[in-house]
Amino acid sequence: MRWTESLINTLWQAPSEAEISSHKLMLRAGLVKKLAAGIYIFMPLGLKVLRKIENIVREEMDASGALELLMPTLQPEQLWQETGRWDKMGKEMMKIQDRHKRQFGLGPTHEEIVTDVIRKEVKSYKQLPVTLYQIQTKFRDEIRPRFGVIRAREFTMKDAYSFDRDIDGLNKNYKKMREAYCKIFDRCALKYQIVEAESGIMGGDVSHEFMALADSGEDTIVLCPSCGYSASMEKAEGDKCPKCASRMKIKKGIELGHIFKLGTKYSESMGAEFLDKDGKKKTIVMGCYGIGISRIIAAVIEQNNDENGIIWPKSIAPYQVEILPVNVNDNETMQIAENLYKNFLSERIEVIIDDRNERPGIKFKDADLIGIPIRITISSQKAKDNIVEIHKRDTGENKLVKIDDLLENLRIYL
Ligand SMILES: Nc1ncnc2c1ncn2[C@@H]1O[C@H](COP(=O)(O)OP(=O)(O)OP(=O)(O)O)[C@@H](O)[C@H]1O
Ligand SMILES: [Mg+2]
Ligand SMILES: [Zn+2]
Repeated sequence: MRWTESLINTLWQAPSEAEISSHKLMLRAGLVKKLAAGIYIFMPLGLKVLRKIENIVREEMDASGALELLMPTLQPEQLWQETGRWDKMGKEMMKIQDRHKRQFGLGPTHEEIVTDVIRKEVKSYKQLPVTLYQIQTKFRDEIRPRFGVIRAREFTMKDAYSFDRDIDGLNKNYKKMREAYCKIFDRCALKYQIVEAESGIMGGDVSHEFMALADSGEDTIVLCPSCGYSASMEKAEGDKCPKCASRMKIKKGIELGHIFKLGTKYSESMGAEFLDKDGKKKTIVMGCYGIGISRIIAAVIEQNNDENGIIWPKSIAPYQVEILPVNVNDNETMQIAENLYKNFLSERIEVIIDDRNERPGIKFKDADLIGIPIRITISSQKAKDNIVEIHKRDTGENKLVKIDDLLENLRIYL
């Protein structure tokens, strides 16, 4: 990508409404633009990151054996009446009316829809277990949208639903999902804590939240320093660990994902049954599993930034390498820069070249701000000797290398 053709517009200063680092940096780097309260446009640079996270999630969900489907955002009222949640969801559910005066909700979550799918498709124990998932836009009319994409009113979620013959099956699937979640958050380079949580409006009795540790987080978690037990503040009773009676510590976190053992709450009210081996009709046992895909971007930035900008982990960086020719009016510089750019493209290295005719100070500042893991600087003096500089955004390490040795040197980092 050429910077001059990229529509990347950086800001020196974030709008005053941005309170926390990730929100400020996402706006300053131009990853997202605000359209209305809690509603954001993903600009091309930001969308690249979103897609990378989606791919990681998709790979790990597929590897776990879950099947991807895509359910509609518009959900008919009747299904939500069956579970009693049409009223219970309250104002958080956005509702609209079609031309025939029929009511629809804009999906805040999809238990009703997916249970409807399963009660129609699954008849026999032979079709179970099955886990379905989707990556899709969700709508929640949050009372207080804030922190940019962390608490938005329109956002991208991965939601998965498991269907089993019995509790044993659910327990196995729950464990599988928990492991898949660990892989996903590890691949995103997040530091997180798994905590026991309340189930709230989803129902069921066992649930765990995956919390990214961050001082700016809205959630409070308690941690036992002795035995490692942890729970959300709502779940914890008092300041003593229920496992070993030690005093627990308090930390702040951002909820990345939430997994629930639903049991038969939805399958019972909606009549999702199957014919078991023994010839008896039984109710399907369910679990549900959410991840805030767009929220992950902010959580990663919260954990990976400095005073100069974002520090992307390479797994979700929009580009792996930025080529920075200091002076685009210098022929030798540009010849090297353009050659490298072409080479990288043919090597399928994700690369952006800052080909703007701008002051070096601005280019270096922008490079730090958008946070590409590796920067290759080409200055006119060094270019004469066929030498360029590799700079690592995370460690700040610099290395001068001969152009002929550059790819070999880069391979260590890519
Ligand atoms: N308003 C939102 N904006 C962005 N992501 C969200 C939002 N609400 C929930 N998520 C993400 O979707 C995931 C699954 O949704 P779930 O219903 O479990 O969230 P929740 O318990 O309502 O979250 P929260 O407590 O933060 O409101 C959450 O773990 C979170 O990462
Ligand atoms: Mg919520
Ligand atoms: Zn303990």
